[in-house]
Amino acid sequence: MGSKPEKLHLFLLILLFTSLYSSSSSAVTLQSSFPKEALPTKSGYLTVNSTTGSAIFYTYYEAQKPRMNLSETPIIIWLQGGPGCSSMLGNFYELGPFRVSSSLRHNVEHLSLEPNPGSWNRVFGVLFLDNPIGTGFSIASNPEEIPRNQHDVAKHLFIATRKFVALDKLFENRPIYLTGESYAGKYVPGFGYYTLKKNEGLPKSRRLNLAGVAIGNGLTDPEAQVGTHAVNAYYSGLINEKQKTQLEKLQMEAIRLTKNGNWSEATSARSRVLNTLSNMTGLATLYDFRKLKPYEDELVAKFLSNVEIKRALNARESIVFDICSDLVGKVLHEDVMKSVRYMVEFLVKNTKVLLYQGQCDLRDGVVSTEAWMKKMKWEGIGKFLEAERNVWRVNDELAGYVQKWENLTHAVVMNAGHLVPTDQAVNSQAMIEGWVLEKGLFATRLKQKPSNMGKSL
Ligand SMILES: *[C@@H]1O[C@H](CO)[C@@H](O)[C@H](O)[C@H]1NC(C)=O
Ligand SMILES: *[C@@H]1O[C@H](CO)[C@@H](O)[C@H](O)[C@H]1NC(C)=O
Ligand SMILES: *[C@@H]1O[C@H](CO)[C@@H](O)[C@H](O)[C@H]1NC(C)=O
Ligand SMILES: *[C@@H]1O[C@H](CO)[C@@H](O)[C@H](O)[C@H]1NC(C)=O
Ligand SMILES: *[C@@H]1O[C@H](CO)[C@@H](O)[C@H](O)[C@H]1NC(C)=O
Repeated sequence: MGSKPEKLHLFLLILLFTSLYSSSSSAVTLQSSFPKEALPTKSGYLTVNSTTGSAIFYTYYEAQKPRMNLSETPIIIWLQGGPGCSSMLGNFYELGPFRVSSSLRHNVEHLSLEPNPGSWNRVFGVLFLDNPIGTGFSIASNPEEIPRNQHDVAKHLFIATRKFVALDKLFENRPIYLTGESYAGKYVPGFGYYTLKKNEGLPKSRRLNLAGVAIGNGLTDPEAQVGTHAVNAYYSGLINEKQKTQLEKLQMEAIRLTKNGNWSEATSARSRVLNTLSNMTGLATLYDFRKLKPYEDELVAKFLSNVEIKRALNARESIVFDICSDLVGKVLHEDVMKSVRYMVEFLVKNTKVLLYQGQCDLRDGVVSTEAWMKKMKWEGIGKFLEAERNVWRVNDELAGYVQKWENLTHAVVMNAGHLVPTDQAVNSQAMIEGWVLEKGLFATRLKQKPSNMGKSL
């Protein structure tokens, strides 16, 4: 398992007659194509429990234009949120080398893979993991094995990543950066924290070479974050003062339940806050207040429902692919409001941390993240809060803002919602490359204070 399938025709053209459009009189045909050059370098399963056979599904894309020897080229691990959403969303809709796009001609919906101008594997390898087991194409041999907390999630991720690294001599010592979005605001700190602690007791050859963690539009410290929706929406002109007060009452309830450790109720209370905000504003999605329709993530599910494509990816054909697993969502329901801020505090003392947000997200956006960042117990937090927020430009155009002190970097990505790489592919690539390679505003020490502020890269 795990390497490229030997025979794959240059273009697979598969016709699927779907019942999705049964309401319309004429059936819509779905046509999908998967060009050979879009195949992952490696894909398949990493067993996390040899007794039961539970396994994490992965796709790996080697760097397209590595700047250094491959044996030293960083590897980025991407984890989707949810809880329970598949990293194939990141792969085929956000930051992978090819993204699904759809066009409708004469009642035929064409799903094709188009090259991504901002793919994150330009100069790094990128590994997508369907996490936790039960998510996407990953296998949970029985539901009881699905992790219920971040420690158990991390345990499986550590085992899977160790197995991945052992697949090829070329992977052995490469620096690993953990990244992810949304609920991965829990997974990324959880996995990073577990790794640093676990590494201490292991011989060098069995450690993971963790070099940094990055979280996009994350849920990390829910108690602080759930308290920010009302002011954020009010000062964005989306609700009035009366609605703000109503929303604040609901937020207080979510906070109270969280403080009491009434986890399940607290999660439901947070959902009420978000549903109420959604009802009040009438927005198509809280993931981006600009959007007139939601993100089209179901394209990925349609694309991956195709058995030929599952085969091409070395995914188990019998698995019915869902973008997000309701079962995993349920299993982690009580985990949602639990904070992992203390894990980020540990990480920022021992490695580097990037927190970035699309500016237009109303769920886990800029205000929401700053609310907990400023509460961090870390000797550098005062210096960070005093540090200049620099205007960040890419190709001479305004891309956002970057604030940094030592190991902590905060980036705001303009004109982006919850799925930053989907909305700002090229700028998200500039961000991740800048941060990993410590270039421009992401450099550890800015060479000199720019004299004309804002012109610096
Ligand atoms: C593997 O599964 C068995 C049986 O469910 C369980 O006892 C064990 O803890 C699992 N190991 C891991 C690493 O999850
Ligand atoms: C790449 O690796 C080779 C062999 O180990 C070494 O001679 C060479 O200097 C390396 N190149 C770079 C750019 O590190
Ligand atoms: C949790 O909250 C619900 C609703 O407020 C309440 O009925 C229940 O008793 C609480 N449970 C605990 C353990 O506090
Ligand atoms: C939001 O609106 C829908 C449809 O009107 C309704 O069913 C739902 O109960 C509302 N939710 C909240 C939290 O107000
Ligand atoms: C930043 O991380 C390094 C390890 O990479 C650590 O030695 C240093 O103490 C950290 N700095 C602060 C201010 O926490």
